[in-house]
Amino acid sequence: MGAEEPVTILLVDDQPAKLLAYEVILSELGETLIKAGSANEALEQLLKSDVAVMLIDVCMPDLDGFELAAMIREHPRFQKTAIIFVSAIQVTDLDLLRGYAAGAVDYVPVPVVPDLLRAKVRVFAELYRKTRQLETLNAELERRVAERTAELAQTNADLERRVEERTREREAALAQVHEMQKVESLGQLTGGVAHDFNNLLMAVLGNLEILRKFIPDNPRLHGLIDGAIQGAERGATLTRRMLAFARRQELRPETVDVPKLVDSMVEMLRSSLGPGVQILTQFDANLPATRVDPNQLELALLNLALNARDAMPRGGMLTISAHRAPVGVGDVPGLKAGEYVCIAERDTGIGMDETTVKRAMEPFFTTKGPGRGTGLGLSMVDGLVAQSGGAMRIISKLGTGTTIELWLPVSEPEKAEEVGPAGPSPLPIDKLRACRVLVVDDDPIVAAGTAAMLEDLGHHAIEADSAEIALQMLSSEAGIDFVITDHAMPGMTGAELAQWIRRHRPHLPVVLVSGYPEVPGDELGLPRLSKPYRQEELARLLASLVDVEPPPFSGGAISTPSNGPGEGVRAMPRPKRRPREARFARVRL
Ligand SMILES: Nc1ncnc2c1ncn2[C@@H]1O[C@H](COP(=O)(O)OP(=O)(O)OP(=O)(O)O)[C@@H](O)[C@H]1O
Ligand SMILES: [Mg+2]
Repeated sequence: MGAEEPVTILLVDDQPAKLLAYEVILSELGETLIKAGSANEALEQLLKSDVAVMLIDVCMPDLDGFELAAMIREHPRFQKTAIIFVSAIQVTDLDLLRGYAAGAVDYVPVPVVPDLLRAKVRVFAELYRKTRQLETLNAELERRVAERTAELAQTNADLERRVEERTREREAALAQVHEMQKVESLGQLTGGVAHDFNNLLMAVLGNLEILRKFIPDNPRLHGLIDGAIQGAERGATLTRRMLAFARRQELRPETVDVPKLVDSMVEMLRSSLGPGVQILTQFDANLPATRVDPNQLELALLNLALNARDAMPRGGMLTISAHRAPVGVGDVPGLKAGEYVCIAERDTGIGMDETTVKRAMEPFFTTKGPGRGTGLGLSMVDGLVAQSGGAMRIISKLGTGTTIELWLPVSEPEKAEEVGPAGPSPLPIDKLRACRVLVVDDDPIVAAGTAAMLEDLGHHAIEADSAEIALQMLSSEAGIDFVITDHAMPGMTGAELAQWIRRHRPHLPVVLVSGYPEVPGDELGLPRLSKPYRQEELARLLASLVDVEPPPFSGGAISTPSNGPGEGVRAMPRPKRRPREARFARVRL
């Protein structure tokens, strides 16, 4: 109700003249006036309209005013309606009390004084209006309180939901960090073990190779040695996978055209997977090149294909595809925003359950049973792509096959290099220079193995078991043509030794040996060998450094003098045994 809205006033009297008189007097108030000539009529009007004030004649023939007031009060709607009695006769105090008890709020004596009547009715009309306004305001207030309460409840619910979301995100992030730390420490442990094993394998392989040349021509003995070499080579493959998982393998990234690389593998894959597995390839037209070590990528794709074969014991289909994939911030976990090539291997095999999907990348996790899988396949692939700036993703469900995606960064703007079939090119034959080589390694077995290989190649090796001793020998020994140094040594590292040599003997070639890729010294452009290396690799590297053709690798070359005097490298006959000088460093120091 508005502040100025008229209220309804009910005038009750059995005499129409009096009703008219009241009407005239009250019309000035500007309120709505309705009239009733009897108690019954008054009740009817009351029920029809929203009456603010009633003016009732006390003496009416059918029902007196007091009785009518009492009836009205009984009705819950009218308990607070203002009733003013008009009484023509002198009312006693007792009558007044009876009237008040019946619900009267005021009396107007007859003869009615118009101003008095108007004043009394105005007060109650105004009271009614104010009460209604208050009620409206109250209702509005309650509505707004209810609205705010609902808003607050909603905000509270939102807040709780966000707190829950944040808690879940935090828990997931913590779990991820925990997982990363676990993988990181496993990586360090694995990398460390692999590194130590590489040293041992280096010694085993090197010595076996030399030994093979010296044993009598007995097939049984050769078979035994070959078996031992094969075992050591399998060990080397395992350590390579361990280093790959530990993201510490030495990578030689090139710009790779993925379709060409895959196409060159298909025949090999067909024979590895057997006739039961159909191989399909699908590549985007104009697929950009990617930058990765092609040999390692081949190995990774082969690993995935072998997993697919194992997952399809009754045969199936393996689809190798590649497409260009732009990645936005946060699109693929572990990937920066940018352009990628996504290589996928999809099989129609048994798929993986949720636990296997979660754990498949863990090193040494396998479901293939003892002796059937090392559990290093996927972790090696994951290590390779991560080390190459990409990421791996597994999409699999039990019974619906598996897709493994490798995301590798696009290499632009160079054009892809041709990737030919793997395998060494034939060695050029003929000349060999005999050199004096300083071998630096803190592990005497490894140093001795390298020295034996060198001497077998016709070179002359001297050993130092630390970089510090190597420095002394470089100043005291004349005619050293090469230094082959291990990197990870206590005290001065191989890279530091190489830096010193580069400063003081800039023309002396240094070969850095390591099992790790992150060896500093790249800025020096040092030739590198990864442990365990074979005699053939060593021969090739040395030949490339002195710019002569390496010897034919036929199990022990006889050196032939080919250099004239003053050329800096001396020819010497291949020693039958390691000469005493080869132990020079160790004996002298
Ligand atoms: N394509 C696939 N389909 C179903 N399960 C797979 C697939 N690839 C991997 N897995 C599951 O993930 C596990 C780990 O795979 P991973 O290649 O790392 O090791 P592995 O294959 O068991 O051993 P290894 O690679 O040394 O032979 C597997 O044992 C297998 O349970
Ligand atoms: Mg595998």
